[in-house]
Amino acid sequence: MPGAFDPELTIPEHIAVIMDGNGRWAKSRGKARNEGHREGAKSVEAILEACGDIGVKYLTLYAFSSENWKRPRSEVDGLMGLLTHFLKAKTSSLIQNNIRLRVIGAIEMLPESSRKQLQKTIDATAANDGLTLYVALSYGSREEIVRAARTLMDKSARGEMNSGELTVENFGQFLYTADCPDPDLLIRTSGEFRISNFLLWQISYSEIYITDVYWPDFRRPHLEEAIGDYQRRHRRYGGL
Ligand code: FPP
Repeated sequence: MPGAFDPELTIPEHIAVIMDGNGRWAKSRGKARNEGHREGAKSVEAILEACGDIGVKYLTLYAFSSENWKRPRSEVDGLMGLLTHFLKAKTSSLIQNNIRLRVIGAIEMLPESSRKQLQKTIDATAANDGLTLYVALSYGSREEIVRAARTLMDKSARGEMNSGELTVENFGQFLYTADCPDPDLLIRTSGEFRISNFLLWQISYSEIYITDVYWPDFRRPHLEEAIGDYQRRHRRYGGL
C-alpha cells in the first residue's frame, strides 16, 4: 500500500500533535463538548501506547492553549479535571511503560490541584527513559518566545551575556523545549490548516501532516498512516 507505515524506514524521533476536533466530534453525536474531550483522552492513551511500541522518543501534545482560557468556565473546569484525573489514573501505567512526563507552558496559571498532580506524575516518571511525553498546557508559542527574550534581557542587564553571544543554535535553550529536539513531524487533526500559536520556533523544519479525522477518532492506524506519509518525504532543510 503506498504510504503505508514501514517499521524498517526512519521513525520520526519527535512527533508533535495539535489535537483538534473534540467539540465537533461531540456535536456530530449530539453530545456535550466535554464528552469529546473525554473521548479525546482515550486517543491520548492509544497514541501514547502506539508511539512507545513504534519507537518514537518524544511526543508533544497541545492539550490547552493560552487562548483556551477564554472558553466557558464549565469547559475549562472540565478539561482541567480531566487532565488531573487522567494523570492520577495513569501514573502507574506511565511508569510501567517507561514513559516520562514533562510539561511546557505557563503552568503557574493552572489550578493548584492540577499543578500538584502534574508534579507528582512528573516526579514519579522522572527516571523513565523510554518515550518522553510533553503536555503543552496554558501554552502559547509567542508567550514562550517573549518569556525567553525577557530572560535574555535580564541576563544581559546583569552582565551575564551580551547580544553577540546569542545564536540560532543557543536561543532554543531559553525555550520550554530546551531539552527536546525539534519535532520531525507535526500532526493536526480535524482538517484545519493552522498552527494556532504552537511551537512556532521549533517547527521551522518539521514535516506537517493534516488529517480530516477528529482527534477522538484518531487512533493507532491513523498515526501509522501519518508516519508512513512522513517516511516518504524527502527532507532537505533548505538544501538540495
Ligand atoms: C481541541 O478540540 C482540543 C482541546 C482544546 C483539548 C485537548 C484535550 C484533550 C484531548 C484532553 C486530554 C488530554 C490529556 C493530555 C490527557 P476543540 O475543543 O477545539 O474542538 P473543536 O474545534 O471541534 O471545537
